Amino acid sequence: MEQSLILVKPDGVERGLVGEVISRIEKKGLRLAALKMVRIDEALARVHYRDHVAKPFFPDLLSFITRSPVVAMVVEGNDCVELMRALIGATKHTEAAPGTIRGDYAYSFTENLVHGSDSPESARREIGIFFSPDEIFSQG
Ligand code: RTP
Ligand code: MG
Repeated sequence: MEQSLILVKPDGVERGLVGEVISRIEKKGLRLAALKMVRIDEALARVHYRDHVAKPFFPDLLSFITRSPVVAMVVEGNDCVELMRALIGATKHTEAAPGTIRGDYAYSFTENLVHGSDSPESARREIGIFFSPDEIFSQG
């Protein structure tokens, strides 16, 4: 069963949108296989966002993603990675379509509420960063 690593980022937890995000995932027919609340520190941020460490926006991303806890989840289902990216919407707040999570709730480029793995390979790597195998309850 395909899996994706989903984070409700600090802004989503602060704004009380965890339930809204989980509700949309479950209503779509995807399943939660793991869930925890975790404070991302700088070292973890550098591993998770390793492809962005050298980019100009990384300092802003780092201070944002470490400022308060996130809710980390493993979500699973057929075509889970692609379906989650569609539910989440475009990265940039001004481009995210209404009906997507970011399109409905995000008003900032950096603070865009949710992370979703961008490929099955990324998902495997990212799930391993946040969860040990015994914390994942796969149905497939
Ligand atoms: P994510 O990894 O968090 O799911 O987001 P994404 O794939 O849609 O976007 P990505 O290119 O991976 O960027 C990671 C996160 O960095 C912040 N960002 N800020 N101000 C900027 O130019 C900028 N570009 C990216 C966003 O928080 C984005 O989600
Ligand atoms: Mg990304």
